Amino acid sequence: MYFSKIKYTGAYVPERIVTNDELEKMVDTDDEWIRSRTGIGERRVSMGENTSELAAKSAQDIIRKGNISPEDIELIIVATATPERITPSAACMVQAAIGASRAVAFDISAACSGFVFALSAADKFIRTGAYKNALVIGAEVLSKYVDWTDRTTCVLFGDGAAGAYIERSDKPGIIAEDIGCDGSKGMCLNGGYNTAANAFNDAEQYSDRFIHMDGKAVFDFATRKVPESAKRLLEENGVSTDDIKYVVPHQANERIVKIISRKLKIPMDRFYLNMFRYGNTSAASIPIALNEMFEKNMVAEGDRLLLAGFGGGLTWCSMLIDV
Ligand code: UT7
Repeated sequence: MYFSKIKYTGAYVPERIVTNDELEKMVDTDDEWIRSRTGIGERRVSMGENTSELAAKSAQDIIRKGNISPEDIELIIVATATPERITPSAACMVQAAIGASRAVAFDISAACSGFVFALSAADKFIRTGAYKNALVIGAEVLSKYVDWTDRTTCVLFGDGAAGAYIERSDKPGIIAEDIGCDGSKGMCLNGGYNTAANAFNDAEQYSDRFIHMDGKAVFDFATRKVPESAKRLLEENGVSTDDIKYVVPHQANERIVKIISRKLKIPMDRFYLNMFRYGNTSAASIPIALNEMFEKNMVAEGDRLLLAGFGGGLTWCSMLIDV
């Protein structure tokens, strides 16, 4: 039986910062509302780079830090809800961009839970012995799906990419996960719709690319499902909350994280937060946070982390990791 372990992390975010003050000039909102309701102060927005380009740049950051030969990479999974094309996948475009000519590459679509879903899949490939390593990236250009006239969503999202290189290991790294979906609530957070119109039917040709969200429903779902899932995961693996050095939550809303903290009885100073600077970057949010923690040397070998997320689908994800 093999295990998989995170060896290196990396990230890439667009340079362009959009502040709350800037949004005040575009829609009827203000910095105080955005900060107090979400914890977000600014976000990064693509100036034209698309999802696979962000993903490839974050992959290059990982390759550089780990001094990895791209030809040695065996598997690439990109978690994204915002690929630029139906085909090729963002992962295939990353494979070509970084020269990982031997890697099998595919995308996973699980919105904000996507990175943890992808890490879980990559872990299974490594545990079975199918592959020895994998590059797992979460990448989003949400700005192309945001309605910049809708104050209820445009203040929330940001663009970015980040990921991890995981490798076969004798010692446990990725310990276990609790991931799940409730498709019956899927329309609470939806976007990028096309009707099934074609030359053989009378269906109306209609597209709506914008993200639509019932914020309250997603808020209620997140504050109920994430603690439930995390508690189940800890219990099933005989892990106490005292064993968790840090929780790395999906960076959607500071108020959601505070409720999760209260319900799990893990103090807020053990939750890593960076939504103030990036907003909600969906599948990129947990790996951007993870990468910052690695870069700041906040975690050392053997430290135990709990990744905790939720998002479109609706989906949820909790994962225990030993660094
Ligand atoms: O990755 C998963 C993605 N989604 C989420 O995580 C979203 C989860 N939900 C949330 O984070 C919160 O529900 C929001 C931040 C989206 C909204 O916060 P809220 O406290 O639930 O506000 P609300 O929807 O109850 O709106 C309160 C008021 C409304 O005005 P009225 O109807 O009371 O007059 C909104 O129209 O705030 C208004 N409002 C705003 N005001 C200023 C909504 N957006 C804004 C805005 N600026 N940007």
